[in-house]
Amino acid sequence: MKISVIGTGYVGLVTGTCLAETGNEVICVDIDEQKVQKMRDGEVPIYEPHLDVLFERNIKANRLRFTTSLKEGLDHGDIIFLALPTPEDEDGSADLSYVLGVSDEIGKIISEYKVIVDKSTVPVGTAEKVHSAIALNAKCDFDVVSNPEFLREGFAVDDFLKPERIVVGSSSDRATELIKKLYKPFVRSGNPIIIMDEKSAELTKYAANSFLATKITFMNEIANYCEKVGADVDMVRRGMGTDSRIGKRFLFPGIGYGGSCFPKDVKALHKSGKDDNYDFKILESVIEVNQSQKVVLIPKIVDYFSGDLKGKTFAIWGLAFKPETDDIREAPALNIIDSLLSKGASIKAFDPEAMDNVARKYGDKITFSKSMYEVLDKADALIICTEWSIFRTPDFDRIKNDLTNDVIFDGRNLYDLTDIEKEEITYFSIGRKD
Ligand code: UGA
Repeated sequence: MKISVIGTGYVGLVTGTCLAETGNEVICVDIDEQKVQKMRDGEVPIYEPHLDVLFERNIKANRLRFTTSLKEGLDHGDIIFLALPTPEDEDGSADLSYVLGVSDEIGKIISEYKVIVDKSTVPVGTAEKVHSAIALNAKCDFDVVSNPEFLREGFAVDDFLKPERIVVGSSSDRATELIKKLYKPFVRSGNPIIIMDEKSAELTKYAANSFLATKITFMNEIANYCEKVGADVDMVRRGMGTDSRIGKRFLFPGIGYGGSCFPKDVKALHKSGKDDNYDFKILESVIEVNQSQKVVLIPKIVDYFSGDLKGKTFAIWGLAFKPETDDIREAPALNIIDSLLSKGASIKAFDPEAMDNVARKYGDKITFSKSMYEVLDKADALIICTEWSIFRTPDFDRIKNDLTNDVIFDGRNLYDLTDIEKEEITYFSIGRKD
């Protein structure tokens, strides 16, 4: 099939590349000329495991092309994916100006039947707005379909190629059949394509992300309470998670959820509710609790150093909002860095992928090192913010040798309490005995 993808951000690029992988002819459109040129030269603009291999293979096979011309893109595709940003507005709502701006252009350009597929995360009612914006100028038939994506950064290729489900909001049989045909290779294993109305599909995405953010936040509160009463959240988690109604996943407490999705989507659903006179009290609490959870280690650090961090140096392991990504959007590490800097401390940081992004944001306010052990040299303590695999089994002797104080503040509960006890390291984690 002939596919066009408008917007080559994270979602657009993964969608375009993976659809090319099943033999479709894909054109990706982006207004950023430099980015398009780089992609034409075979450079993948984001870090995402396995994407590079598929990207290269499909460019070589001429199934994946790039252009800055919206007209070229729209002329090519029978199905047009909108994978445009919906950034957070000042009031927490999703900014639809990119989506609606392009929709307006689409109406002026298309001259034969197209299915416009909204992949961006958008508030309930957006498909209707996109339809109206296109209809204003369109001289041919078209359908608008809502098809939210559920990709996780770091696993996006796998999630796209082997989805647990595909949600399609469509009220046109013609469009539904085309979309079903497109996704057929991806649901071979029997996972469903769930067809529903557009509004329900739009809400499904927000409900799923907000539910997961709530699940994490609930566990973070349980962890905080464990500390008060001397319980161990690891045990509580295992005791709860074995109930199949609860499930084992997304029960890991830590220093809060981050990234480009959960924080934005929870706020957007909360704001949509307000606009529709519905007060999502639970989401208001989730937003508030997550904000304080991001800095839950700070009082422990301040206490350990008797209230004064001036002149202290902290080594940080992990800057990305989670492992397997260089993404630092809403990363808890940044809240911790800001708080420590404001208290007069210095920071030395290491992350396998995200250091360049943090360096761009902080300039020379913090220093970096290419090795996880180098940052420890003469640091007063180690703080762990991201659970990269290489941090899971470190050389504890080196840690003890290099740190001035043998103390670790672990925001991701990486180490077994008995192992750490044997190492005679002072250890603070989340929801477990210190
Ligand atoms: C999330 C969803 O998982 C995807 O299904 C969705 O498509 C995506 O948002 C999106 O809307 O685009 P992502 O933001 O890549 O994916 O990351 P997750 O793996 O879901 O992690 C989100 C945050 O939750 C991270 O900060 C992570 O550290 C935190 N988390 C996750 C916990 O604190 N505890 C857990 O048990 C699990």
